[in-house]
Amino acid sequence: MKIVKYPHPCLRHLSKPLVRVDSELRRLAAEMLELMYEFDGVGLAANQVDLPYRLFAVNFEGDQAIKEQEFVFLNPVITNRSGMDEAEEGCLSFPGIYAPVRRPNKVTLTAFDLSGNEIHLELEGLPARAVQHETDHLDGVVFVDRLSPTNEMAVREPLESLARQFAGEQQRGLIASNEQIATRLGELEKLRT
Ligand code: NI
Repeated sequence: MKIVKYPHPCLRHLSKPLVRVDSELRRLAAEMLELMYEFDGVGLAANQVDLPYRLFAVNFEGDQAIKEQEFVFLNPVITNRSGMDEAEEGCLSFPGIYAPVRRPNKVTLTAFDLSGNEIHLELEGLPARAVQHETDHLDGVVFVDRLSPTNEMAVREPLESLARQFAGEQQRGLIASNEQIATRLGELEKLRT
């Protein structure tokens, strides 16, 4: 398992809800948490590791030692958005790129955990921001899609640089072709959604 970088097509994949939890899914989730901590992330969505599944891992403190802040959410749904706040965001799929993003600062998250229990959380501040950022991923939306025109201009060049790097790696065969990626996602999706 490996974190894919912008503009990998999996980051644009709209994930469908998972229909079951099993040991293989729990293994994938554990691997996602490991990768998230390895790269000092607060959250990691399945499409960031080239999987078409509707789940993400998060630790609201970004600290592996604080287990009560660690969650894996399946089929997350966000409701009751209120307030508005602007804060800087980054993303493990956009190394070195940070920009302010406006989002509601209070939300309700409904999701399932890896034991199949339904969870309701009222979140505010950074946790609210994190679950919105990660749920966006599952819809194929990335944080740079939500920038103001001025902030969008500021990240244009680093984005183009990531795009050139991606194209180069694809050309050298280090990354599968877009067609191969789409075929694989379709096959994986059939297994669990
Ligand atoms: Ni992200």
